[in-house]
Parts: sequence; structure tokens; C-alpha cells
Amino acid sequence: MAKKKTRFVCQSCGQEYPKWTGRCTACNDWGTVVEVAIEAAAPVGAARLSTGAAPIRLMDVEGSEVERKKTGIAELDRVLGGGLVAGSLVLVGGDPGIGKSTLLLQASDKSASAGDTVLYVTGEESTRQTKLRFDRIGARSQNLWIMAETSLRAIEDHIAKNKPDVLVIDSIQTLYSDEVQSSPGSVSQLRAITARLMAIAKGQDIATFVIGHVTKEGAIAGPRVLEHMVDTVLYLQGQRGHAFRILRAVKNRFGSTDEIGAFEMGDSGLSEVSNPSAFFLAERAMGSSGSVVAASFEGTRPLLVEVQALVTPAGGGHARRTAVGVDSSRVALLLAVLEKKAQLDISGCDVFVNVAGGLRLDEPAVDLAIAAALASSHLDRPVPTDAVIFGELGLGGEVRAVVSAPARVAEAQQLGFRRLILPDGNATELKAHPDLKYFGVSGIQALLDVLF
Ligand code: TYD
Ligand code: MG
Repeated sequence: MAKKKTRFVCQSCGQEYPKWTGRCTACNDWGTVVEVAIEAAAPVGAARLSTGAAPIRLMDVEGSEVERKKTGIAELDRVLGGGLVAGSLVLVGGDPGIGKSTLLLQASDKSASAGDTVLYVTGEESTRQTKLRFDRIGARSQNLWIMAETSLRAIEDHIAKNKPDVLVIDSIQTLYSDEVQSSPGSVSQLRAITARLMAIAKGQDIATFVIGHVTKEGAIAGPRVLEHMVDTVLYLQGQRGHAFRILRAVKNRFGSTDEIGAFEMGDSGLSEVSNPSAFFLAERAMGSSGSVVAASFEGTRPLLVEVQALVTPAGGGHARRTAVGVDSSRVALLLAVLEKKAQLDISGCDVFVNVAGGLRLDEPAVDLAIAAALASSHLDRPVPTDAVIFGELGLGGEVRAVVSAPARVAEAQQLGFRRLILPDGNATELKAHPDLKYFGVSGIQALLDVLF
């Protein structure tokens, strides 16, 4: 008899090995590598995707436009690419407690209110607890069904009977398939269940949301193992202690991955933030030194945010450098440029940089605003409150033009800002506007001359 084929798979990150090992070299977890039969993992569900159909001429395939339905939450629809596609499977990932369940409870209620039959499957809480959660967001649709279940087989039976239009699985880590040997949450289980849910979604035209908790390594379900299997991957992100949440698409078979959705967590769930700039500037420290408004981008949206810096003489010993919301090595680089090219005696100081609202800015276009905030705090001279700053700074102290300057300027103008401090290279491409004053700068010294 032929020997049964097996392989060794890390249950936390999905890395495969030809033989057993005590520690996974990919994710460094101990005791997570187990032997699995090769036949077991792949075919579950995958085989059922097969329709047995012959090839068909491209021109003869009906329905070239994907059908979308609105979830009723505009920020979610935007990230999905204009609405939810029937028969698609959307993975929603994020840290525990960030608001994934809340978002999908709200989307479920909206869809159900719009006439769709929605089935919300929870493996994390009882139906009573889930009801309380729905009460909290004010849901009372007749078309909303909830089911506390972790067995994939039981869920499938119910789907076959109830035929929902929208299905929500909360969360994939709690489900198990009895066709797979390993425990719930393991890579083999996740793969098998996702493949099966994908087949159900496609076969029965059910728009399916699957919630997945991000593990400590930062990927959904430990691994990237699910991302390639599903149609769309969304991440809900935010910082602890801050109410702002961003929903971001990292993969979308039916739309762009540039869109973001903005939300605020409140007492009755997530509310949409249709004007993120106003949200971020609401509590700005007006007129105090070290505070600068930067024009950045999130996805395709221009976003004005307050960058704060505090530069104080170090109390002897090692100078401290702390950056929240921006890359600390970027801050170190900007400090070096200020020191060398603008003769600011800053190296012996403690430096703290913070982006207000718990946002993270990774764009080089915020360089100039960070540098301005640092200089402003160091000199203790406030930057004018009606000024917005953007531009990239090079190591030679030169200011470089950035993309999408007109959109940044338009956003600033909409929120009542009058002065724009921007790269020379961008200033020339902009049209004059009676309400706006442009200050094109070509280097770090020019920036300081304009400001102080
Ligand atoms: P939840 O949706 O359960 O997070 P996840 O499913 O991603 O684990 O949200 C949990 C947090 O959100 C919890 O700390 C409570 C808070 N929350 C509110 O602040 N307001 C609300 O209306 C709800 C429903 C939750
Ligand atoms: Mg949850």
C-alpha cells in the first residue's frame, strides 16, 4: 500500500516544512508545527467549486457588469468599490476590540432594513448577547437572523434552508469543519472553511462577510493564508484610546484598493466621518508653538492633520526622541537636516513628535510640516493658524515637489485655510485664487524665513 502523503504545517502562520520541527522559523512560535495529510487540506470545498461545465466563448458570458447592492453605510460601500457584490466573499480583519463586529452588525441591520435576508452567525457570543449588541446599535429589522453556532455543517444546513442574501461569519477563528482533524483556528481549519464558504457564496450567490482577528504577528489568522483565497480583504484600523477608525482595502477583485472609509466609534456604534480633516482639526492647539497643519493623503482622499512637536533641552545624558504616528527614523533625518542646513542647535534636545487623533502618516509629503513643527517648538514661535504645509525634504535641505498638490490645496481652502506653504515646484503648477496665498519654498532655510 502506498504511504499516505503528509506534510508539516505551522498552525499559526501556515509555513510548511518537509519534516517536523519544534519551532517555526517563520513566526518563531514553539510547538505549532503539526503533521497534516496532503489530501485533507486542499480538496475540502475546493472540489465543490467545480461545475463540470465546458468552456464558453467570452462574448457569450452573460452579465458583464458586476451587480452591487449598497450596504447602506456609505464609507463601507466606498471601500468595497461602490457596494457589495453578490456572491463575493469579503474578509474583514483587525485587532481584537477594534470594532469589526460592530461594523458588521450595523451593515447587517442596514442591509436587512433594505429588504435583504441577512444571517449573522456568531461563534463568539450567545444569541442573547448578540441581541443586546444589536439593541445597542438600534437594530430592529424583521429580515435579520442570528445564529450562535461554530459547526460549519450546521451553518451550511441553515443556509440551505434560509437562503440568506447576505451572510456574516463572526469570526472565522471560532468555526470548525468536522472534515478536518485539527482544532478551530488552525491553518488547516481556516483554509478548509474559507474554501467552503467561498463555494457557498459563489454557488448560491450569497454576499459573505468573514471576520478574522489579526494575531500578534499582524496578519489575519496568523497567516496570509486566507488573503489569496477570498475576493476582498478589508482591514479595520485605529489606535487604542482614540475613537477614529479607518477601513482600508488591501485586496479587492471588484474595485480599487486606494479607497479608505473613515469612522468614529461612539456610544451607539460606528458613525461615518464624511469630513476627516474637520474631525482631525477639531481639537487643534490654536496659536501654540510646535503645532502645524499638514496636508496629507489617506487612500485617494486629501486629509488635513495636526502635527505636533515638542523640543526641550535634554536634562543631561542621552537626548530622548519619541515619535507617535510618524516614522522615528524620518524624524531623526529631519532633525539632522534642520541642524546642518538651517543651523538650528537641536541635537542636544529631547524631541517628541505626535500626530493628533491617533493617525499614522507615512507619506514623505508630510516632511515639511514635521520640520516646521520641530523648528516652531525649538524657536518657541507659533506657525500662523491659517497656514497649511506640505512638501518633501531632501538630505541636502532641498524641498521637493509632491503629487496631488491641487487636491491638497482644495482641501485646505475648503476648511478655511488661507496660506499654503508648499514646494516651489508645486507652487508654479497651481492656479491663483483670490482667497489663497501661496508661499513656494525651495529649501529648508526658505521655509524658516517664510514662517518665522
Ligand atoms: P467589537 O465590534 O466587539 O470589536 P471586534 O469585533 O473587532 O473585536 O468592538 C469592541 C469595542 O468597541 C468595545 O471595546 C466596545 C466598543 N464599542 C463602543 O465603544 N460603542 C459601541 O456602540 C459598541 C457596539 C462597541
Ligand atoms: Mg468581534
